[in-house]
Amino acid sequence: MKIAVVGSGYVGLVAGACLAENGNDVVCIDKDPAKVKTLQRGKIPIFEPGLEEMVRRNRAEKRLTFTTDLARGAKNSQIVFIAVGTPTGEDGSADLQHVLSVARDLGRSMNGYKVIVNKSTVPVGTAAKVRKAIAAETKQPFSVVSNPEFLKQGAAIDDFMKPDRVVIGADDARAAELMRELYAPFTRTGAPIMLMDPESAELCKYAANAMLATRISFMNEVANVCDAVGADVDHVRRAVAADKRIGPSFLFPGVGYGGSCFPKDVKAMLRFAAASDYEFQILRAVETVNERQKLRLLTKLQKHFGSLKKKKIAVWGLAFKPRTDDMREAPSVPLINGLLHAGARVHAYDPEAMKVARGIFGTKVTFASNGYGALDGADALVVVTEWNEFREPDFPRMRKLMKNPAIFDGRNIYNPHQIRAHGFDYVSMGRP
Ligand SMILES: NC(=O)c1ccc[n+]([C@@H]2O[C@H](COP(=O)([O-])OP(=O)(O)OC[C@H]3O[C@@H](n4cnc5c(N)ncnc54)[C@H](O)[C@@H]3O)[C@@H](O)[C@H]2O)c1
Repeated sequence: MKIAVVGSGYVGLVAGACLAENGNDVVCIDKDPAKVKTLQRGKIPIFEPGLEEMVRRNRAEKRLTFTTDLARGAKNSQIVFIAVGTPTGEDGSADLQHVLSVARDLGRSMNGYKVIVNKSTVPVGTAAKVRKAIAAETKQPFSVVSNPEFLKQGAAIDDFMKPDRVVIGADDARAAELMRELYAPFTRTGAPIMLMDPESAELCKYAANAMLATRISFMNEVANVCDAVGADVDHVRRAVAADKRIGPSFLFPGVGYGGSCFPKDVKAMLRFAAASDYEFQILRAVETVNERQKLRLLTKLQKHFGSLKKKKIAVWGLAFKPRTDDMREAPSVPLINGLLHAGARVHAYDPEAMKVARGIFGTKVTFASNGYGALDGADALVVVTEWNEFREPDFPRMRKLMKNPAIFDGRNIYNPHQIRAHGFDYVSMGRP
């Protein structure tokens, strides 16, 4: 099929590359000329495992092209995906300006029947708004479909190629059938294609993210109770997770969730529920707990040292999670700002997010070229993101490098007994 994807960020680029990988002709459109130039040179502007190879392969096969020209891209396509950002607006709701501006541009570019597929995460009722925006510009026939995306950054290709489910919200049979055809190769292993009305489809994405954020905040609170009463959250977590009704996913305590999705989607869901006179109380608490959790390591450091003035603190991990360079809403940001505010000197390292971090902190933070480099003369190491390379470090070497051997493990990646046997003070989340 001939497909256009508008927005070449984490979602649009992955969707475009994966759709091309299955034999479709895909044009990826973005309004950012620098991004499009980079993509046309065969480079990708983000770090996502496997994506660059996939983009390169499909470009070489001429199934994947990049442009800033929305009108031309849309005119040549039968299906057009909207995958632009929906950031948090001033009042906490999802800001739809990019989605609606694309819808208007698409309306002006219509030259025959097309299916406009909204892949951005948008509040209930957006499909209707998109339909109206397009209809205001054209008399051509078209359908609007809601197709929320559930991929995870860091495993995005796998998630798109082998989804747990595909959700399609469509009001008309013609569009639903085209979408079914398009997704058939991705669901051969038996994943369901779930057909529903656009409103329910729009809500699915928010409900899923809200559920995951709830599990994270819930387990963070359990860990904090463990700290308070002297229990070990590892034991508690395993016992709880063994219950088949609960399961093990998203039950790891840490420094709070971040990224471009959970914080904004939780806010947006709270907001659109409230706009319909419903106070989503659990979700409000999930958000409050998360904000507090982001500063929990800082509190632990302050408790340990008294004052952090002039202390040299090494930070391992800046991205909001491993295998991405994304630092949007990353817990490392408020933590580092808190450390700097308390007078500490911060030396940081992340395998992929250093360029992004330099843009955020400038010269306020010293960036090391590897994990050990950040430890030289440090008073403490703080582990914020659980990259694999931090899991089995050379502890004797670390001890030698550090001025004061103290590790604050925000992700519980180390064994407390082993670390203490190496001579470190060790503080983690919810474990004695
Ligand atoms: N990042 C994720 O893990 C993820 C997962 C599922 C769903 N989503 C949702 O998908 C949407 C996109 O997220 P993302 O992380 O890919 O965003 P992003 O910020 O990485 O990318 C958005 C892209 O859209 C482009 N753009 C904006 N307005 C445009 C316009 N008028 N014309 C052409 N291009 C335009 C921007 O230049 C940018 O490159 C959001 O609604 C997000 O909530 C994201």
